[in-house]
Amino acid sequence: MTDMNDIAALKSKFAGLIDEANDLPALDAVRVAALGKKGEISGLMSTLGKMSPDEKKVMGPALNGLKKDVALLVETRKSVLEHIALEARLASESIDISLPVNIKTGALHPVTQVMEEMAVIFADMGFSVKEGPDIEDDFHNFTALNFPPGHPARDMHDTFFFPEDENGERKVLRTHTSPVQIRTMMSEEPPIRIIAPGRTYRCDSDQTHTPMFHQVEGLVIDKGTHMGHLKGCLMEFISAFFETDVDVQFRPHHFPFTEPSAEMDVRYERKGESIAIGTGDKWMEILGCGMVHPNVLRACGLDPDVYQGFAFGMGVDRLAMLKYGMPDLRDMFNADPRWLSHYGFSPLLQANLAAGLS
Ligand code: PHE
Repeated sequence: MTDMNDIAALKSKFAGLIDEANDLPALDAVRVAALGKKGEISGLMSTLGKMSPDEKKVMGPALNGLKKDVALLVETRKSVLEHIALEARLASESIDISLPVNIKTGALHPVTQVMEEMAVIFADMGFSVKEGPDIEDDFHNFTALNFPPGHPARDMHDTFFFPEDENGERKVLRTHTSPVQIRTMMSEEPPIRIIAPGRTYRCDSDQTHTPMFHQVEGLVIDKGTHMGHLKGCLMEFISAFFETDVDVQFRPHHFPFTEPSAEMDVRYERKGESIAIGTGDKWMEILGCGMVHPNVLRACGLDPDVYQGFAFGMGVDRLAMLKYGMPDLRDMFNADPRWLSHYGFSPLLQANLAAGLS
């Protein structure tokens, strides 16, 4: 028959085994040997039924106490072992961030690089960065920009339209970053000096067009702003961007949202396969610009007799190709890792004016 001495002996036996278990599987084996269905303590519990009432009175609570004590010891040991296991795992998975990184493994896409370079140049001139949604409504993409309903210029943009929603409205994938001009003028008081980089979409695809492309918009609104400010700003920008003196010309053009409007060309020449910017006798168009149209100012609640401004918009992908000599625009968005490792930029070398942009 079991007596109190046996119980004390069992308790110290299991306490010892639990203490010796130095990993979780070993501890679980001890738990099963003691408290499992066929375990030693469970075995003793099942003998209670055959005991006399007097014996039961003593042994019942004693066995229950033993069971509880051993279970508690197992739990305590378990949390110690879990802690040790976690520490070991953390130690084995730790990364020494002081080690040199293989910076060629990840690279910035040239579009990202060029957008950062542009932001750095314009930030130096006091511009801040604004963003707007890729999915626009007709008001921001067209109407407020002085494209009246039914105006043919709406078709010129090869717009991707969404199906009509429940209000009969058709949203669009923005065809340019100019809607950010509207969002900014409607939410901020002048003076305004912002650039808005982002994705734009037109239903068009060939060697120099992709259905998704990138633009950087610029907007300046203040009192007494004139065309001279526009020209000075863009000439300064383009020389900083190409990191050399660049000869430019402004050619009259038409945009519904600017008046007067112009396109800016840069002087270039072909040298064999590559293109040299700044020299030569050819002109290449690189951006559209103009003085913000009075109708656009009015649509945004600004009085054109008080405020004037200029805006510009340029294709980032195009400028990236020119600056870094990529032959085909479509390669930019093919997600080919070989192309990216060739043309990509180190993520650790951020563009900055003091050290040189690229
Ligand atoms: N939004 C015009 C385009 O995509 C570019 C532009 C922007 C022209 C701002 C003038 C002023 O073609």
